[in-house]
Amino acid sequence: MSIKNKLIYGGDYYPEQWMDHPKILEQDIQFIKKAGINLITVGVFAWSVIEPKEGEYHFSWLEEIIDRLYENEISVMLATPSGARPKWLAQKYPEALRVNEGRQRNLFGERHNHCFTSPVYREKVRKINTKLAECFAGHPAVAFWHISNEYGGECHCPLCQKAFQEWLRKKYGTVEKLNKAWWTRFWSHTYDSFEEVESPSSVGEKSIHGLNLDWKRFVSDQTIDFMRHEIQALRDAGAKQPATTNMMYDFQGINYGKMAEYLDIVSWDSYPLWGKKEDVRIALDNGMQHDYMRSLKHRPFLLLESCPSATNWQGVSKLKKPGVLMNASLQSIAHGGDSVQYFQIRQSRGSSEKFHGSVIDHYGGADTRVFLEICQVGRTLESLSEIAGSDVHAKAALIYDIENRWAMEDAQGPRNDGLYYHEAAFKSYQALKHCGLDVDVIDMDQKLDGYQIIAAPMLYMFRSDMEGKLREFVKNGGTLIMTYWSGIVNETDLCHLGGTPHDLTDVLGLRSEEIDGLYDWEENTAEPAAENELGIVRPYTGKNLCDLVQLKGALALMVYGSDFYAGRPALTKNTFGNGTAYYVCADMEEAFYRDVYKKICERAGIQGLLEDVPEGITVNSRENREYQYLFIQNYGQEPVRVALPEGYEILAGEYEGAVAAMSTVVWKRRK
Ligand code: GLA
Ligand code: ZN
Repeated sequence: MSIKNKLIYGGDYYPEQWMDHPKILEQDIQFIKKAGINLITVGVFAWSVIEPKEGEYHFSWLEEIIDRLYENEISVMLATPSGARPKWLAQKYPEALRVNEGRQRNLFGERHNHCFTSPVYREKVRKINTKLAECFAGHPAVAFWHISNEYGGECHCPLCQKAFQEWLRKKYGTVEKLNKAWWTRFWSHTYDSFEEVESPSSVGEKSIHGLNLDWKRFVSDQTIDFMRHEIQALRDAGAKQPATTNMMYDFQGINYGKMAEYLDIVSWDSYPLWGKKEDVRIALDNGMQHDYMRSLKHRPFLLLESCPSATNWQGVSKLKKPGVLMNASLQSIAHGGDSVQYFQIRQSRGSSEKFHGSVIDHYGGADTRVFLEICQVGRTLESLSEIAGSDVHAKAALIYDIENRWAMEDAQGPRNDGLYYHEAAFKSYQALKHCGLDVDVIDMDQKLDGYQIIAAPMLYMFRSDMEGKLREFVKNGGTLIMTYWSGIVNETDLCHLGGTPHDLTDVLGLRSEEIDGLYDWEENTAEPAAENELGIVRPYTGKNLCDLVQLKGALALMVYGSDFYAGRPALTKNTFGNGTAYYVCADMEEAFYRDVYKKICERAGIQGLLEDVPEGITVNSRENREYQYLFIQNYGQEPVRVALPEGYEILAGEYEGAVAAMSTVVWKRRK
């Protein structure tokens, strides 16, 4: 039995909730097999069953389950249980519980409620992880380690304060350097020693932006350090299987770029709000996350959780309409994922997730609409096995950086009523996808080599030599599209002196002079400049932010239509070295991005996977040594005609000139 060379199909399973229902446990295996599931995740929140009393470990139940899965040729992803802890632990070691920013300690309860610094908690986790690895690392069924669950949150306890001070000492060396980097003479907030620094709090300091930013970095680093500690315990006990942890959609608490360095494989939990807007928009937004996750390592990722039907924690728990499950599942594969996994296999009977969608529901039969669709997904994944392990070679990159977001959203700048960073990134992403391109979503730490076009929206903070890398990229012939509110501050949130976007004014051929924040109800327009090179013929509206630039060599392709800056540049173009740098001055409407990116790609000779990507359709590709795989997904309610390039043969789905409503077709072509 091996899941190598296969796409993984699986889900989270909580047999510990059903130990007094042996018949159910027995039956579940039959459901799992019938669905074509080949990997089961166990142990995610099982601490109180594994170690009901301190130091008293019970593994036989888990062994029984893992053995039974193995006998049935199902692999196992085994979780460390630190996502939630038993009451005895909180009772005896209150220091393991979190302290909030108001400096109050939490009571026992919920999950994620633990201090990442606490030596006692770390020790308890090390012990249980060691025991788990000693028992199961050699089990032939165990294929992966699932480290904890959805790490997140922060703790302001005295231990964390101390650790933060040490983190700062390591970063700055002297407190004078810290004071300078944080500009603490402002409001007389200078520190005399590292020991004086306290974490930001609404009942204390929150106006030193450098402090806020470094605190976020510390929390992220401390979480990652905790995760490494967990993995180390497994490795020390001889575990060799790859380790992953489930990341989350648009999560802002951790620098996942740094976290991924310590994981063998990236994975994430995806719960899109299908049906809330046009499904193709939901799919594109979710696709941006898939691309972000894949780009963390530029290797296949796992879709570690998704819901077979309705979730129960969103405002409205919408059923997945027929076909949505298949499309959503294959979307993971289309974007470079090697798995489709569900939360959860069997629906829990009580507590807060009792109405969350599952493979097997409370009714407990195989004759449900959802189960039948699950089986269909299983068969399709099986038929796509050869795709496992293949990569995505993107010509386009979108720069999206979490540290930039932390700084920008805390900055008290041109609009405190919403800067819409995610939305701005999405507009560029959507436009690149509309050009038929595969897109890497990368942060500022990554290399820019190999891309033909890069979108860099709202890079308020330049770090990791962003300016140097972008300069090289354009000089060497790349096409850069940068926007308003970029290159404003350095790595500790100090404003750049001498003109912005910092160190790129020559590359862009302009200097940003002022930026206007618009009220929610205000709009401006960008009007095409006469005979502009891109052949833009219509005006577009912009909102929220309007950058007023002084041209220093760039050409204005569009100009503002109103306000005192009517006639000043709204879209510019500059040639630098062998490349071209565009600058979008305002938060323009989506249609602007779609039309303008299309024209930019055409002009630069950047070719998409399809010549034309019709409305409602998404297109992606993957490659291995021999083949290129093409995924076309229709997220609309009507069939859509799609013109296909030569040489493709169908691997899954049906196509006779059109892709049917809410369906996917996968092709392959020898390279
Ligand atoms: C998260 C968690 C799971 C479960 C699901 C519900 O992704 O990791 O344990 O709570 O949400 O959607
Ligand atoms: Zn703490």
